Amino acid sequence: MTHETPAPDATRRNSEQVLIFDTTLRDGEQSPGASMTLEEKIEVADLLDAMGVDIIEAGFPIASEGDFEAVSAVAARVQRATVAGLARASAKDIDRCAEAVRKARSPRIHLFISTSPLHMKYKLQKEPEQVLEMITSSVTHARNLCDNIEWSAEDGTRSEIDFLCRAVERAIAAGATTINIPDTVGYAVPEEYQALFETVRARVPSSDKAIFSVHCHNDLGLAVANTLAGVRGGARQVECTINGLGERAGNAAMEEVVMALRVRGDRLAYHTGIDSTMLTRASKLVSAVSSFPVQYNKAIVGRNAFAHESGIHQDGMLKNAQTYEIMTPESVGVSKTSLVMGKHSGRHAFREKLKELGYDLGENALEDAFARFKDLADRKKIVYDEDLIALVDDEIGHAGDGIKLVALTVIAGTNGPQSAALTLDVYGEQKTHQATGNGPVDAVFNAICALVPHHAVLELYQVHAVTQGTDAQAEVSVRLAEDGKSVTAKGADPDTLVASARAYIAALNKLMVKRGKSRPAALTG
Ligand code: KIV
Ligand code: ZN
Repeated sequence: MTHETPAPDATRRNSEQVLIFDTTLRDGEQSPGASMTLEEKIEVADLLDAMGVDIIEAGFPIASEGDFEAVSAVAARVQRATVAGLARASAKDIDRCAEAVRKARSPRIHLFISTSPLHMKYKLQKEPEQVLEMITSSVTHARNLCDNIEWSAEDGTRSEIDFLCRAVERAIAAGATTINIPDTVGYAVPEEYQALFETVRARVPSSDKAIFSVHCHNDLGLAVANTLAGVRGGARQVECTINGLGERAGNAAMEEVVMALRVRGDRLAYHTGIDSTMLTRASKLVSAVSSFPVQYNKAIVGRNAFAHESGIHQDGMLKNAQTYEIMTPESVGVSKTSLVMGKHSGRHAFREKLKELGYDLGENALEDAFARFKDLADRKKIVYDEDLIALVDDEIGHAGDGIKLVALTVIAGTNGPQSAALTLDVYGEQKTHQATGNGPVDAVFNAICALVPHHAVLELYQVHAVTQGTDAQAEVSVRLAEDGKSVTAKGADPDTLVASARAYIAALNKLMVKRGKSRPAALTG
């Protein structure tokens, strides 16, 4: 029997709380190409805090200056959540991490070390006894700097159970208050993962002094199933990311875990503190800043998650929505009321529409977005929600960019060579160049390269239509790689070539931020 999505209060009765530890900004950002700027990380952290996330893992402070800055900035502004930073079992890592989370209202240091035979032998090149010593010394060191210590057994699911229990005991004895047993390589199956938690909790005498945590990767598509199994096995903290972003195939998706617990409270008597009506907004924001599109049929937040195409389904839905919907769209923040926007829509309607879509822009950003909307509405009869999302994401994502598109004229067609005349604003200076290429996109990119010399390699160029019809906006994704770092960015416009230029320029801007704050030498050419 299906139900109307239960109200949060109903799910809380007779159920235990599971803490939500979001690692979108750390494990999620480790996905190749998903890097975010400082401003983007802050925007995501604010939203995670507002939606009720208990712990925000903001980064890996020792990894780079940028990570340190991001963790410090998030720690200083987050109002409700605990802010965690990641550290290896070394004093240098721990000191840097402690410094980064210092300003948090509630700081946490998250320590990890591998405990599987494979990782200890090949990655750490340490004997098991040495690893145990490192657990004691690192947790003790961290505990002297911060009261809230999480310890993770990396590759926990491929560790020998006796050794894992000894390691957990050591970590708790040295002062860890959260014990995470990750399925680092996404290898576990649910019953096995549940049993692992049951065994460790039963065998480690001090296990009642710590909260156990799950952290699942999705290499076999089992991350959410394993997460729920771990909770059944006694874990009361779930590590997850928005949209399932994360290393390789990603981490368990927060929206799926939260809604599984909420919709199936009859089987899973646990609740979270997440305001589920903010899940769609969070998904859109993370997709925009990471430039990772959400697959159409993604559970909970995919654009088809509440779409009913077949006649039989539509008929059933019209008679009673519960025939084909196990939760309401509103319960995850998809609103049914929809103002249709067109060229006669004014500022007020535009602002209301953006609010409905989850955007609250400042005056300047709103003005800029409104001007672009008017331009779009002149060219396109109906402006759909997807058009506005693409437009606003494009606008807000690039507000502080050093390189901006000013004008582009392209000559294309059968009689080549195709050429592009491009004007850019490069750190306040207008520059123009005309380039040819093997096709119009190549010509545009060649012109950009001439105006902004760089060595980045184009790894991905992808176009998709935001809506249907030949007047649809094009959304272009571009991935650039340089010195082992890659960035992905999007650009949107009804003109595919303008969208391509915007995407390439946006990726270059991101690359600048990755290289460091200052204007790079290559740009002065
Ligand atoms: O997957 C993993 O093991 C991790 C740890 C650092 C917690 O991300
Ligand atoms: Zn991980």
